Amino acid sequence: MPVAYDPAVHAHPLRVGAARVLEENWTGTSTVPSRSLYPHQWSWDSAFIAIGLRHLSALRAQTELETLLAAQWADGRVPHIVFNPSVPLDAYFPSPDFWRSSRAGRAAGAPRGVETSGIVQPPVHALAAWLVHLADPELSRARGFLTRLYPRLAAWHRYLLHRRDLGGAGLACVVHPWEQGMDNAPSWDAPLARVTPAPARSFRRADLAHGAPEDRPTDLDYGRYVRLAADYRDRGYADGPSGFAVEDPSFNALLIASEHALARIAHELGAAGTARHARAERLTAALIDRLWDPAAGQFLCRDLRGGGLLPERGVSGLVPLILPTLPHDTVVQLVRTLTGPHFGLGTATRLAPSYDLLGEAFDRHRYWRGPAWFNTNWLLERGLRAHGERAHADALRRALLDTAGRSGFAEYVDPYTGAACGATGFGWTAALALDLLHTGDTPATGTQTSELRDMGGDRA
Ligand code: SER
Repeated sequence: MPVAYDPAVHAHPLRVGAARVLEENWTGTSTVPSRSLYPHQWSWDSAFIAIGLRHLSALRAQTELETLLAAQWADGRVPHIVFNPSVPLDAYFPSPDFWRSSRAGRAAGAPRGVETSGIVQPPVHALAAWLVHLADPELSRARGFLTRLYPRLAAWHRYLLHRRDLGGAGLACVVHPWEQGMDNAPSWDAPLARVTPAPARSFRRADLAHGAPEDRPTDLDYGRYVRLAADYRDRGYADGPSGFAVEDPSFNALLIASEHALARIAHELGAAGTARHARAERLTAALIDRLWDPAAGQFLCRDLRGGGLLPERGVSGLVPLILPTLPHDTVVQLVRTLTGPHFGLGTATRLAPSYDLLGEAFDRHRYWRGPAWFNTNWLLERGLRAHGERAHADALRRALLDTAGRSGFAEYVDPYTGAACGATGFGWTAALALDLLHTGDTPATGTQTSELRDMGGDRA
């Protein structure tokens, strides 16, 4: 059942502001991350947005995910962008005429009626679908929401676990920094250095018309992003050996959390979810085996072409905290790293930065090279709470709500001051603030407790 009216939550100025952002960014069938910088539908944005939107309208939240999954390719991949045909081509780069999905992606099963990109983003979708279902199970059942989504979500996971297991150890691999979502994270510097950049004159960036250049990736980064994407397109988006191939901790942790959610969805639909829970446990073991670095006290990325763990400490390596079945020791070390000098949570910073405060490449304003983002901090809040780190979780929740409101729902913020960077009126910032407002401080209610369990797969 939808939650009863509570003036402390429903009339809260932050809720009103967040609802306004989500209303302004709603297109009728989905939500743009930002009216200016990102005027189409993005895959992981939509999943996070649905998690917040469910508190305003469970119907819209269901529609958000349905629209995204309607653009799924026949090979199971869920594209990272679904293009809105009414938006002019030069409003965003790379535009549909760069990706050419309906032609170049034909062999991989790209849909004909809609243009999309050909790469993917982190698989937050099954988790989002389950949380959206929980917001209003009656509406969900009446509309057959999970019945319709389940086969698509299952095909999506199959694609990642089979076509993308380029390392052969069971983990999914990303073939472009845009896939992992943290585009210019310093972890990518070494694997990207092997990529010959596309000449600057061969493309025109649209992002710099809307964002400060010092907040965005560099032209050299873009040259490499374009080369990798064009090469993939020119191979017909066929998966196989790639110039860039990395196993990333947050991408795989989200896949594991979503696999547990898919088990719950299967159960709700009357099937057994046991095999999926077991697979998620095997993936968790592979994650620890392949990506845990005891000396760093966190997970790191594995470069499949360079053949080893990449030493840069990114926030991605802390995100596996969302998995409540992680060994206790691992949790203790992750919390120590998060609150220690490299990320400074609760001491130097109020929100976790995207990259090591002590790292040479640290830059407090440049996209994923230092700024604090709301989605990763929401995941850390959920993880801390699930592991009983209540004081840290409460402080992080308060900092997230305060910074979201004060920054005008910024895309990301300076981790020291909370000053806004990138776009404002950003979809997932508004949505996740709304989610935290509704889920509350303490895991006192049955829903809150079971939602935290659902993120990590505790079968109790
Ligand atoms: N994050 C990318 C961008 O900045 C796209 O996924 O456009």
